[in-house]
Amino acid sequence: MLTIRRARWADLPLLDTLEKEFDRDLRHIVLKQTPRLKMYLRRTPELNRIIAKRFRKWVRSKKAIVLIAEVDSTAVGFSTISIETNRGLLPKRFGYIGYLFVSRHYRGQRIGSRMLKELVSWLGKRRIRHVGLSVFADNRHARAIYKRWGFGDHGLFMWKLR
Ligand SMILES: CC(C)(COP(=O)(O)OP(=O)(O)OC[C@H]1O[C@@H](n2cnc3c(N)ncnc32)[C@H](O)[C@@H]1OP(=O)(O)O)[C@@H](O)C(=O)NCCC(=O)NCCS
Repeated sequence: MLTIRRARWADLPLLDTLEKEFDRDLRHIVLKQTPRLKMYLRRTPELNRIIAKRFRKWVRSKKAIVLIAEVDSTAVGFSTISIETNRGLLPKRFGYIGYLFVSRHYRGQRIGSRMLKELVSWLGKRRIRHVGLSVFADNRHARAIYKRWGFGDHGLFMWKLR
């Protein structure tokens, strides 16, 4: 049975494991398309520390939520959303999906859809209608799913690879 629950402080080691699985998977997906991106996807100890700190902040914050998806008590995915503010630009406040991940074996079972629904509902309760995320251009699978969910490609970050 699928359960989606809010992550707590005690889940930080589990989130660390899931985040690393996400990172390995993303690296695999992106580098298969564009091997030259390798240097940009390197995980430094500093980045690991920044990510761990971010999760510590999110699990305690009223302005963020971290969800864990479990099938029969086994963690199979996680997602995060945080409320961000723009200075000068519109929308003034929006939800930013930092992570949305389902383990390979469990994909295509609407677990991602269920998590997204909960993230958006959490945001709606805070009267925020705008929601955005970043995705690698090479991550065609995720982009196709995001399109299906109504997200459009309205911004593009370009790199001149070295
Ligand atoms: C993106 C991801 C979270 C989706 O999770 P999931 O549980 O497999 O997705 P779902 O089963 O809920 O499918 C989502 C929808 O996309 C549809 N879909 C599935 N595969 C698709 C494809 N290749 N193209 C288009 N639509 C697709 C499903 O039918 C479903 O539609 P519905 O909501 O109308 O039923 C998951 O694939 C993942 O973790 N990918 C690797 C990590 C990643 O790239 N994350 C994004 C980084 S920004």
